[in-house]
Amino acid sequence: MSLALIRDVVAPVPPARPVDPAPELAIRGLAVAYGEAPPIFTGVAFSVGRGEQVALIGANGAGKSTLLKCCLGFVKPVSGEVSMFGQPVSGLKSRGQRELRGGIGFVAQKHNLVPRLSVLSNVIHGTLAEASGPRRWLHGLAPKSVRERAYAALDMVGLADFALRRGDALSGGQSQRVAIARALVAEPRMMLADEPAASLDPAAGEEVMAVFARVSRDTGTTLIFTTHHLDHALRYAERVIGLAGGRLQLDAPASTIAPGTLRGLYG
Ligand SMILES: Nc1ncnc2c1ncn2[C@@H]1O[C@H](COP(=O)(O)OP(=O)(O)OP(=O)(O)O)[C@@H](O)[C@H]1O
Ligand SMILES: [Mg+2]
Repeated sequence: MSLALIRDVVAPVPPARPVDPAPELAIRGLAVAYGEAPPIFTGVAFSVGRGEQVALIGANGAGKSTLLKCCLGFVKPVSGEVSMFGQPVSGLKSRGQRELRGGIGFVAQKHNLVPRLSVLSNVIHGTLAEASGPRRWLHGLAPKSVRERAYAALDMVGLADFALRRGDALSGGQSQRVAIARALVAEPRMMLADEPAASLDPAAGEEVMAVFARVSRDTGTTLIFTTHHLDHALRYAERVIGLAGGRLQLDAPASTIAPGTLRGLYG
């Protein structure tokens, strides 16, 4: 399917989006290339307001993970700008970058829990950006206030009863919920999740996405997740953004998108 056709099929009339005067994330004219290779995408522009739940979709290689890495300051654009929490990411020195990343809870496809440590210790590791050392490594040594925060985060994902289990004594879905708690314990302003349900069976994937959506709603934390599950994009995000052919091809409220039309992005 040609790109022009994709544009027609996927986003016939992009509904007017009210301009948010102080978006949490503002991306303008973004182009990214790795080395001398042609750009992965160009001219990408959108902004995300506080508390929004956004799904980022597109075929393998469209640049979804790259876009998230730009938001975290790990990948520098060749042109354009990413502003996070009102500050241009590319202008930040190392301390500013640490502060930026401290405000973002990142959840990857693989949970990367430390298998031989308790679930509670693993969640406490989410506070390592605040202070390092054994008091943020082992739950038995952690300050009471930090342990309480970790319990509260586990409670949010429905796993408070699992706090003293070993990290390797959980199912894949439970492990990913612990990874969400590990992100939440730092009380982030925004959660970025890169295919958080991709390694899970359908039921566990649903459970993890439902936890994300509920926690984001309950805490007002902005959520941006990438996914190849189009039904997850439509059900667990209020807005869907799509990359295809090196451009942003879709930016529309999930409620206005007819199931099926999104497949045009994968032409
Ligand atoms: N570190 C890198 N060095 C060079 N090229 C890279 C690097 N990371 C990604 N790429 C290339 O950039 C393009 C976009 O990759 P990216 O991982 O962002 O896509 P994606 O949309 O997340 O794909 P997937 O759905 O497979 O996760 C791909 O062609 C990939 O090969
Ligand atoms: Mg990716």
